[in-house]
Amino acid sequence: MNTIIRKLEQKREQARLGGGQRRIDNQHSKGKLTARERIDLFLDPESFEERDMFVEHRCTDFGMEEQTISGDGVVTGFGTVNGRLTFVYSQDFTVFGGSLSASHAEKICKIMDQAMKVGAPIVGLNDSGGARIQEGVDSLAGYAEVFQRNVSASGVIPQISVIMGPCAGGAVYSPAITDFIFMVKDSSYMFVTGPDVVKTVTHEEVTHEELGGATTHTQISGVADRAFENDVETLLYLRRFLDFLPANNKEKTPVRPTTDPHNRAEPSLDTLIPDNPNKPYDMMELITKLIDEGDFFEIQPEYAGNIIVGFGRIEGSTIGIVANQPMVLAGCLDISSSIKAARFVRFCDCFNIPLVTLVDVPGFLPGTSQEYGGIIKHGAKLLFAYAEATVPKVTVITRKAYGGAYDVMSSKHLRGDVNYAWPSAEIAVMGPKGAVEIIFRQDLGDTEKIEARTEEYRQAYVKNG
Ligand code: HXC
Repeated sequence: MNTIIRKLEQKREQARLGGGQRRIDNQHSKGKLTARERIDLFLDPESFEERDMFVEHRCTDFGMEEQTISGDGVVTGFGTVNGRLTFVYSQDFTVFGGSLSASHAEKICKIMDQAMKVGAPIVGLNDSGGARIQEGVDSLAGYAEVFQRNVSASGVIPQISVIMGPCAGGAVYSPAITDFIFMVKDSSYMFVTGPDVVKTVTHEEVTHEELGGATTHTQISGVADRAFENDVETLLYLRRFLDFLPANNKEKTPVRPTTDPHNRAEPSLDTLIPDNPNKPYDMMELITKLIDEGDFFEIQPEYAGNIIVGFGRIEGSTIGIVANQPMVLAGCLDISSSIKAARFVRFCDCFNIPLVTLVDVPGFLPGTSQEYGGIIKHGAKLLFAYAEATVPKVTVITRKAYGGAYDVMSSKHLRGDVNYAWPSAEIAVMGPKGAVEIIFRQDLGDTEKIEARTEEYRQAYVKNG
């Protein structure tokens, strides 16, 4: 018996080494942790329960039958994050470049199924060369099985993808379907076709980093939600992030005890909004003063800065915040900000997270680029998301709420539960100056008259209080 146990222990030791010490050293030399080191950092100490440690691939082509490695390039299982059950898979780049074989996909699918069965979040740590080339179409089938589960799990359990190495080709679509994507700066990238294909087809010369690095996806494409400096920082933020989320769509968000009194007065907010309606102010100041201990987890902080979205807590319970940012594009809604906020609102609605909307919006951004880009349909996504959301919706209009954008930003007509107006609120079909220039066009040459009409319009229609 002892011999069998010893053999088992040796087999485990071997499996823990993945593709071997040389490849582990290689991984470290790129500033990356191994699949197991990542899991150890991410989960609470000693909490990881591994599944399918000895699974191997079944490929017999190209001499693959001679090369089998326990685990087949992905470490799967579950554990706890600050005491809460979480499922995880972590691709092991030291084993066939973390590439996805049929067995590798089956392991991922198995824990996805378990996560859905018990109602707990699933986190994927992606570091993979894509489809296992030696397995051909079997590998593609494996991807599709994962995609199907991503879709079935959508809105049922939180799904988070962390990109910690290559993620290319069709492999990008699993992260794309999940709720949030985090990337590691300088060591991760995502694209549908790599720089070589791009050069052949479009003659563009572009590096991996420019095409699909963390900066590209957090600032230009909006594909990724956050980027962090390195593996360690990413995994620690991921732990903090999960604390905001419920385990599934039937549970409430966790309540974190707070020492921040619910009736804390913030006199500094009395002077936050400038008297001059054209002067910007930082909406982030209001957000951080509104929530417990100023602890705000922003989503897509570097993309579509004219709207701020993210998670905070009030009296210990998670809330989702959506806020126009007057510092960027005067807080106008455009294509990018509508898509960004709509996705966030829908996530909160799925997972029982009340929405607090802070409104200072002069309208939709005008222009051909917006119209040609389909602002009509993209703006409608945000309207649809708010109208559909049945979580508690509290709205505060801090200054401007003009035109269609007034309706869109969780107005009471879209079943906002409580809609407050800050003393400086201006709610109108359009700004007084624009309105007067249309209805009193004949007086345009007379500045005095126009000013008087503008004031008259402001008094009559730009309501506040
Ligand atoms: C099998 C692979 C592999 C793959 C890498 N490896 N990718 N094995 N299938 N897809 C192996 C390498 O042979 C090597 O084995 C080890 O992993 C590390 O790879 P390196 O090339 O040495 O590493 P690096 O220089 O860091 O380059 C990483 C890489 C490159 C950029 C990912 O390996 C690469 O371009 N791989 C191919 C990517 C690709 O074309 N994938 C298929 C795309 S099609 P040894 O034994 O030397 O350590 C696809 C379709 C998905 O993914 C569709 C889903 C719907």
